[in-house]
Order: sequence, then structure tokens, then C-alpha cells
Amino acid sequence: MDGNGRWAKRRGLPRSAGHSAGARTFKTIARYANKIGIKYMTVYAFSTENWSRPKDEVNNILELFKQYLRDASNFKDENIKVKFIGDFNEPHLDDEILTLIADAEKNSENATGMHLNIALNYGGRQEITDAVKIVAEKVAKKEICANDITEEVIADNLYTSGQPYPDLIIRPSGEYRLSNFLIWQSAYAEFWFSDVLWPDFKPKHLDKAIEDYSMRNRRFGGI
Ligand code: IPE
Ligand code: MG
Repeated sequence: MDGNGRWAKRRGLPRSAGHSAGARTFKTIARYANKIGIKYMTVYAFSTENWSRPKDEVNNILELFKQYLRDASNFKDENIKVKFIGDFNEPHLDDEILTLIADAEKNSENATGMHLNIALNYGGRQEITDAVKIVAEKVAKKEICANDITEEVIADNLYTSGQPYPDLIIRPSGEYRLSNFLIWQSAYAEFWFSDVLWPDFKPKHLDKAIEDYSMRNRRFGGI
């Protein structure tokens, strides 16, 4: 979800206004995606690198998360199953947000609609590193042999364990990079780029991305 800052700047507004607008877009798109039958959606909300932003801006973004989580109707009434993915041993994440996250996951665990992953303090390399640590522990305890480490074993220890790999990755705001997002999972994903800044992203853009995706010919290395 990129381009909040530029959206605000173009309007002569503070960056925080861009983040608020981006949060509204996120709610709209999550509801819409669920409505049209998307089964899994992961949004990149805050990366492990985003802590380098000014403290005020970081606090502003974290406050928006809290607001979203406090309003359980955002996902509960929508029958959306929320899951947070990222490194939650981060000292910057206070108890309040960790409790809100745990409650949101618990309150929505029986939802049968879309699985919504919110990537918070997420980094793809960090995720793979964490998986390797878990697997290394298992090897050290002789629960598995090094030779038995397959791609599946790694995948089963990622934050997205048990979920399918993404079919489509959407990057708005005119950037053409992955920025450490789902780097393992996206090996064969289709990419869709758009100049639209995230706060301006509308359901029609998601429709267009899906329509374009449906025209792609996925060969997964075959012919
Ligand atoms: C994305 O918008 C929001 C987060 C990273 C939390 P940006 O804040 O990166 O917006 P730009 O890239 O400065 O326009
Ligand atoms: Mg950005």
C-alpha cells in the first residue's frame, strides 16, 4: 500500500492525512476483495525498514492500526479472518497493540470469509531467517535430518504456513520493486503495477488487476 505520502504532498497536506486516507482505502479494498470472493489477501502495512521514519510518523501509523483493530466490526461483521504476519518480538510494538492484534485474531478465528494477512513489522528476508532458525533448532534436537529439509519444510515454517502462495501481487504508486514483500512466496506470482497512489486505489483498479491477471499465461517453468 504505497504512495500515501505523495498523495498528501500533492494536496498540500501533512503525511498523516495521506496515511488516514490510505487506511480508508485499505478498509474499502479489504471489504470489496472479500465481497468478490478473494480467498487470501495480504497487505503490506509496515515493513521492518519503516521504523527509520520520523517518530511522529511511525506513531501516527501505529495509531491508525489501533483504531482499525479497536473497531472489530471492520472484520468481524464482514466475516473476514485476520492474521498478522511479521516479527512481533519488536520492542517498538507496545503491549496495547499486541493485545489488540491477539484479540482481533482470536475474535475472527472462526470467520469463513477472506483470509486477510496484515504484514506489520514484516520483512521477507527476516521471515525466511526466522524459518531457518526454527528448522535449525529441529535439526539440533534431531527431530529432522538436514537432508530432509525440503522447500516444503521451509514453507511450513514461514509466517504464511498453511496458506497458498500469492497468484497476483499488486504494487501501486509507480514503484517497480518488491521491497522485501513475500519474497519466497512470490517466486511464481504475477505482478501488476499501477501509477495510482494507494489512497486513490479503488475497487475498479482491483477489478482491472484481476482482469489483466486472468489474461496471463502462467507456465510455472513449463511450456
Ligand atoms: C505507504 O505510503 C505507507 C507505509 C509505508 C506505512 P508511503 O508513506 O510510503 O508513501 P510515499 O511513498 O511517501 O508516497
Ligand atoms: Mg513509499
